[in-house]
Amino acid sequence: METKQWFVDNPVNNLSCYPQIQEAAQLLRDGEVIGFPTETVYGLGADAMSNQAVEKIFLAKGRPSDNPLIVHIAMKEQLQTIVTEVPLMAEKLMDAFWPGPLTIILPKKDGLSEKVTAGLDTVGVRMPSHPVALALLKAADVPVAAPSANRSGRPSPTTARHVYDDLKGKIAGVIDGGTTGVGVESTVVDCTGDIPIILRPGGVTREQLEEVVGIVVMDESLKNEKITPKSPGMKYTHYAPDAPLVIVEGSKEFLQEIVNKEKQAGKKIGVLTTAENQSYYQADVVLACGERRDLSSVAQHLYDVLRRFNDYDIDAIYSESFTEKGIGQAIMNRLTKASGHRFLKE
Ligand code: TXA
Ligand code: MG
Repeated sequence: METKQWFVDNPVNNLSCYPQIQEAAQLLRDGEVIGFPTETVYGLGADAMSNQAVEKIFLAKGRPSDNPLIVHIAMKEQLQTIVTEVPLMAEKLMDAFWPGPLTIILPKKDGLSEKVTAGLDTVGVRMPSHPVALALLKAADVPVAAPSANRSGRPSPTTARHVYDDLKGKIAGVIDGGTTGVGVESTVVDCTGDIPIILRPGGVTREQLEEVVGIVVMDESLKNEKITPKSPGMKYTHYAPDAPLVIVEGSKEFLQEIVNKEKQAGKKIGVLTTAENQSYYQADVVLACGERRDLSSVAQHLYDVLRRFNDYDIDAIYSESFTEKGIGQAIMNRLTKASGHRFLKE
């Protein structure tokens, strides 16, 4: 299959009338899958009401079929076709964070493709804030199921090039809207119980959520890897670069000592650091991921840096670690998964 590429580099007001957006929206309505930018990462969209269309997402990504997809909407009115009720706390969260990087789990309505929810009786819904995503959703005029547009297991895509590298020939097209801003996926919050539960930390921080709805808890599995996550996708290996990744908790001197020992053993070593420490390390490849003093810049560059390590022939990557406050919680969650829970403590 030929994978079309559309460029929308200079978003204007009536973007949904753009010929590129119209063509992509028509393909979505025809049951094809399309890569598109959101403010978090690029998504791979299909008509959420069509089993056949949604099936194509799983095929293109090589995604396990028990991992449900998030449904994307452009207007709150679309909720009526997707969920049976919107509890007060969900309403408050929508008012505060939509459009934006927050996915809310609610009881699902019949009519949605069963493949979207992987047999669960709940569905994750989100209204993205990226102008291209909103324009596409409006033009398509159907709820759009969309996971991140990477091949299953690989780091999520933050550029159209990443999508193209992973899925060329497997999808009908990708809209290039530039590099995504947040860089890590949306926060997934379960609002089907008495208090909101974070199933996946992401672009909206726990602290921000608590300002709006009071106490918010973390799903137990986020703290204890032996507990099965409520969010099926959280149990799979994710975001992994080709070389094994180890997170180092300690000083930069400690990290450099580890690298030195590996070098003595003849290994080729990569170091994942931030701009502040980039010139300190002596290793085969030293890549900086944003600035430590601005954690949102680390989130923004994380997946691209994980992918860039694959351009080098290295035996292992050692990464600095980050605080778990604010957006740091999402950064450490993704790094931990990318490392397969490999840590070294000073
Ligand atoms: O920022 C994002 O959320 C991006 C962009 C494209 O919107 N999408 C994304 O989708 O990250 P995906 O499929 O890569 O991750 C969806 C996560 C998975 O961990 C999945 O298990 C969880 O959300 N999820 C979806 N529906 C769920 C449900 N009904 N109950 C629990 N977890 C659910
Ligand atoms: Mg994903």
